[in-house]
Amino acid sequence: MENQNSYPIHQIRAEFPALNRQVNGITQIYLDGPSGTQVVRGCIQAMVNYMENGSANLGGKYQTSIESMDVIDDARQALGDFVGVSKDEIAIGPNMTSLTYMVSRALSQSWQAGDEIVVTELDHRANVDPWIQAANDKNCTINWIKMDSEKLILDLSNLDEVITPKTKVVCIGHASNGVGTINDISTIADAAKKVGAILVVDAVHSAPHLYIDFNQLKADILLASLYKFFGPHLGFVAIKKEIFDELKPYKLTTSPTTTPEKLETGTQNHEAIAGIVPAVDFFTNLGKGNTRREKIKSAFELIEKYEDTLAEKIRVELSQLPHVQLYQADKTVRKTPTIAFRVKNISPSQVCSFLAEKYGICSGDGHFYAKTIGDRLDLNKDGGWVRIGLAPYNTEEEVEIFLNAMKNILVESK
Ligand SMILES: Cc1ncc(COP(=O)(O)O)c(C=O)c1O
Repeated sequence: MENQNSYPIHQIRAEFPALNRQVNGITQIYLDGPSGTQVVRGCIQAMVNYMENGSANLGGKYQTSIESMDVIDDARQALGDFVGVSKDEIAIGPNMTSLTYMVSRALSQSWQAGDEIVVTELDHRANVDPWIQAANDKNCTINWIKMDSEKLILDLSNLDEVITPKTKVVCIGHASNGVGTINDISTIADAAKKVGAILVVDAVHSAPHLYIDFNQLKADILLASLYKFFGPHLGFVAIKKEIFDELKPYKLTTSPTTTPEKLETGTQNHEAIAGIVPAVDFFTNLGKGNTRREKIKSAFELIEKYEDTLAEKIRVELSQLPHVQLYQADKTVRKTPTIAFRVKNISPSQVCSFLAEKYGICSGDGHFYAKTIGDRLDLNKDGGWVRIGLAPYNTEEEVEIFLNAMKNILVESK
């Protein structure tokens, strides 16, 4: 396949021990990247090392405590390099959802009745419900950017009615975890900046696939989750310094008032945080350049090309199967390698069971918390849709096995 020969797939796969996992004698094929990726070896080792070498709380004068502070500092630096901000602009938390609740509640302290908050129909509800709930508490209005249900993109035709001088915050996903559409952030960012609104970007789905540049996206706040890109079950938020300094999160009177610590309630998951640097450095080690950021950028160029070629093959071949209906934006729209579909007369749940039991293929069914997409397409009452997604460790052979399974599903699943 074009462009695929120079891609170091064997070297990459060797970094992921779980790729050897067998269930009932079948080696597992992980096409469930959008729900969470496998963990890179260095991350697993770093987490074990942290616990084996003595774990500690922060603030002590003894070696393990000093080392724990270094672990957190290094993790912030790596995440700062990953998205292009300084380490003081990075707060780490249990997951994106919890961090969004914290940030939305903190920001909403300054909202007045009648202020407006903008969310979208294409987003995961983690970038919708925390904002709606905070807005309701303050009698603010919610404005929706609608999804064009034919094109599966955001409808930006009436943006100046949705984003108005009363808008305080605009919340937008970088890419849809439901159907893979990469959003036109630039147009939305410009509309938000014009009225002085804060732009919040949910980069959870895009982070494994797209090089993220906080400033280029014109983001003020950006969130992502490490378990979607080869790391531990943790989330992080990048917040522009001026906004972070002013932010007043709910916190203990005794805990730090400094950024970024003021957003990090309680004792953090130090052992998981120890896995952050190796997760980020999966990209660093794959790329070329003088700095970590340059290497990350070049790694994404490699990954994007590889994943796009495989995803395109899946899209083309699935679209030729009469019993499969794809849900995707057209060719003109950039997409992550995430593919949504249904099979005629077989429920999404049955499709996933068939793929898992017969072929060891991990896939997902339902609405994936991007529930409004399913509401708009009227899919939720029938079990939503099937979602598969590629990661840099997936192979052409795995794609062939999946496509073969899909060709035979009507006969074999009887
Ligand atoms: C696009 C998107 N946003 C937010 C989330 C929520 O992330 P977390 O599980 O870290 O709360 C997910 C999880 O699947 C997601 O795909």
